[in-house]
Amino acid sequence: MGFDLQILHQLRAMGPGPGQGDVNSGGAAVCGAPGIRTESYRRAFFSSRGIKQRNLYIWSIALILSRVVFFALFLLVVYAVQRFWFLRAWAWIGSLSNSNWRFGLHAGLIALAVGLLAALLDPLLGHGISRLGGNSPNLDNFNLFKSLATFARLWLVASFFGFLAVESVGAIESVTNFAARLLLHSGGGAGGFSASRRSFFRYASVLAGGFPLLAATYGFAAGRLRYRIERVDVPVANLPPELEGLRIAQLSDIHIGDYMPPHEIARAVDMANALRPDISLVTGDFVSGEGDPLEVCIGELSRLRAPLGVWGCNGNHEIYAGVEEDAERLFREKGMRLLRAAGAVVEHNGGRFNLLGVDYQRDHMTGGERTEPGLMLREIEPLIRRDMPNILLSHNPNSFHRAAELGIELSLAGHTHGGQVKVEIVDHSVSPARLISPFVAGLYRLPMATDGNGSQKAALYVNRGLGTIGFPVRIGVPPEITLLTLRRA
Ligand SMILES: [Fe+2]
Repeated sequence: MGFDLQILHQLRAMGPGPGQGDVNSGGAAVCGAPGIRTESYRRAFFSSRGIKQRNLYIWSIALILSRVVFFALFLLVVYAVQRFWFLRAWAWIGSLSNSNWRFGLHAGLIALAVGLLAALLDPLLGHGISRLGGNSPNLDNFNLFKSLATFARLWLVASFFGFLAVESVGAIESVTNFAARLLLHSGGGAGGFSASRRSFFRYASVLAGGFPLLAATYGFAAGRLRYRIERVDVPVANLPPELEGLRIAQLSDIHIGDYMPPHEIARAVDMANALRPDISLVTGDFVSGEGDPLEVCIGELSRLRAPLGVWGCNGNHEIYAGVEEDAERLFREKGMRLLRAAGAVVEHNGGRFNLLGVDYQRDHMTGGERTEPGLMLREIEPLIRRDMPNILLSHNPNSFHRAAELGIELSLAGHTHGGQVKVEIVDHSVSPARLISPFVAGLYRLPMATDGNGSQKAALYVNRGLGTIGFPVRIGVPPEITLLTLRRA
């Protein structure tokens, strides 16, 4: 949605194309006759600016249509999956012999379905339903509706994967039944195993259907809260000997809210302080959306301790919440500094580095490589220094291609959350974060374009973040507090 707004801003900023002003204002003063106006419009339309504007309109309409289709398909899938599970549960309850149990469980199933629907619709209705239930603003307090909303989110995703798993088992059973029938007709006699085969597939189906819910419960109750400290040596080009061994603590993607209460941020801050870093950096996404307590989040972060100070940059969720300026002000009030297209020279042991920070760098959901050259990081190009290494705080790791082109020695990012869920399949890890970036988590290096012979490399570190977004679960992707130690490349 934010991107649609960006398109509208671009269209407004472009203003009327040459000749279009004539059409819009009636054209009488310049052109006089409607035929001339039409010709003027046609010329303008096919001028280079007109074509660009027309393409932008077509592209934005295609984008909106594709989103409508995607949303309609999403609703269709949600309906099909929930109908599948509801009918299965209804039929299982119907098979019970005790009529009182049957009545009670059927009533309970209907109540659960209504509750889940209310919890899922609540955000679309401006949280009107949860307010009716007296939703508490205190993030640490227990709230029944909040718990139901949590369960609804877990169920929505787990039930989808459970559905896929049950259908897959059903498909395998159909194939084996078909093969058994073929064998039977050819005199193989495999039909004798059909009863045990049926019960095997029945148990397999229950296990396959239940596993995603168990995994989601684990990811919510345990995986999400197991903070891990990552110690990483980072080779940095052009690093002066005085900065060898400089220790940087990095936190990212806090997402204060229902699933990240203040005491969990305080725990991460204590862990970061215990690492005794020289400098502490926070790479954006303090909140998830409008109304989240930004001040509380930044208040907790202000307990970070490091001799060279605490610095940060905004993430995309500060844009969605409309709090980019507030974040900058709160950082300043708490004695920290949020860099918004700004830089500062930091000195350590007599060596110096140039610390840069930018607001969220939008890309066109392309994964970085296809981003228009020169579009990203334009605002800090004049701030890049060649007499000392540059360290860039940029929430979006996709700015790394441009950073390497510009000769920025080290970029620090977040944004991907490492995908939140990672599955290893035959030595390959499958992560949803690959949809938004090739830089999912960890250390990456690219040749620096400013280096003539291409021997020097720029480095990027992508922090998996602390919080979650959308689905409050982490499986195989623990939340991260990073200690980066700079090494001469
Ligand atoms: Fe984030």
